[in-house]
Amino acid sequence: MAGNRTFTMIKPDAFAAGNSGAILKMIEEAGFKIVALKATQLTSELAGKFYAVHKERPFYADLCKYMSSGPIIAAVLEKDNAVEDFRKLIGATDPSKAEEGTIRKIFAKSIEANAVHGSDSDENAEIEGNFYFSQFERVL
Ligand code: TYD
Repeated sequence: MAGNRTFTMIKPDAFAAGNSGAILKMIEEAGFKIVALKATQLTSELAGKFYAVHKERPFYADLCKYMSSGPIIAAVLEKDNAVEDFRKLIGATDPSKAEEGTIRKIFAKSIEANAVHGSDSDENAEIEGNFYFSQFERVL
């Protein structure tokens, strides 16, 4: 059975552009409940840890630099079928390929500065949520 939580980050481009509120509004209007939320900033080392799965990819160093370049918002979201439904709401990694009406189509600047993160599996949603939030920082 699909899990009911996923993890997201509003990335530095969207945060800097003042789009965090509009993005959170779209997320809530799509039926997700915010069950953990914080504004923070990653160091390059922490960004590297978060994206360790990509460490052999050519874009890894730039991605770590970019993800630590400014504040972000981290959140855990709750909804039936959360991971899959949230991936649909954010759209394709490359905003030029994202469907109309998706968060990345509306707010992303490029494949790197693509406005939001969304977990790709229930297992990673749990790992990523635990990366940012203790048990006291989220709704049980
Ligand atoms: P990936 O996990 O493939 O995409 P998604 O975020 O949609 O799950 O890649 C992680 C992030 O790495 C992606 O959001 C932006 C960055 N990235 C690049 O900068 N260049 C690329 O060519 C790819 C594929 C990803």
